[in-house]
Amino acid sequence: MKKNIKTKTAIFPMPVLMIGTYNEDGSVDVMNAAWGMMLDMDKVVLNLTETHKTVENIKREGYFTVALADLAHMKEADYVGIVSANNTPDKFEKSGLHAVKSENINAPIIEEFPLCMECKFIEYQDSETGCGVVAEVLNVSVDEDILDDNDNVDPSRLRALVYDPFNHGYYVVGEKVGNAFKEGSSLK
Ligand SMILES: Cc1cc2nc3c(=O)[nH]c(=O)nc-3n(C[C@H](O)[C@H](O)[C@H](O)COP(=O)(O)O)c2cc1C
Repeated sequence: MKKNIKTKTAIFPMPVLMIGTYNEDGSVDVMNAAWGMMLDMDKVVLNLTETHKTVENIKREGYFTVALADLAHMKEADYVGIVSANNTPDKFEKSGLHAVKSENINAPIIEEFPLCMECKFIEYQDSETGCGVVAEVLNVSVDEDILDDNDNVDPSRLRALVYDPFNHGYYVVGEKVGNAFKEGSSLK
C-alpha cells in the first residue's frame, strides 16, 4: 500500500554544500546550502535566497567556492547554516574554521573541508521559477588523503555529509554497493 505524504521536497540525499565568499571588507563568509546540484559537467546551480550575505558577496565579487562538508566538521557546517553574516559580522571567526585565498579566483578555500570547487558567477535567476545562482566550475582541489591510487576521489575516504529533507537529518555516505552503467547490463 502506498500512502500520500505531506512533503514535496522528496529527493534524498541532498548535498551539504559550504559556499565560501569574501565580504566587502575582505573577511570570509561561509554558508550551508542543500539546494544545489551540478548543471551539465562543469556548472553548478545553487538555489540561494537573495537576501543572504553570501548572495550579495557572490554578485559583487563574481567568484565563490563550493566545498563538500564532511562528518568531521558537522558542527561547523551546521553553524554556518543557522547564523548569517548579515547580523553576525564575526560569523566565520566564531565557526572556528580557517581559510586561504584561492590561487585562481578571488574567493576563500576553507581548509577544513576535503573537496573544494572554485566557481565563476554567471547569473542570478530571480524569476519565480529561476534557479538562483548559476556558475562555472573553474577548478577543483582536494585533500590528497581522500584520493585513491589513480588520483580519483574515494567517497569512502571523503565521508561527505548529506542532508535529509524529511527530518532535517545529516547522514554520512561511504558504502559502495555497485557500479553505475554496469549493474543493469545483465537485463539488456
Ligand atoms: C542544512 C541546511 C541547508 C540549507 N540550505 C540552504 C539552501 O539551499 N539555500 C539557502 O538559501 N539557504 C540554505 N540554508 C540557510 C543558510 O545557510 C542560512 O540562512 C545562512 O545563515 C546564510 O548565511 P549568510 O547570510 O551569511 O550568507 C540552509 C541551512 C541549513 C542548516
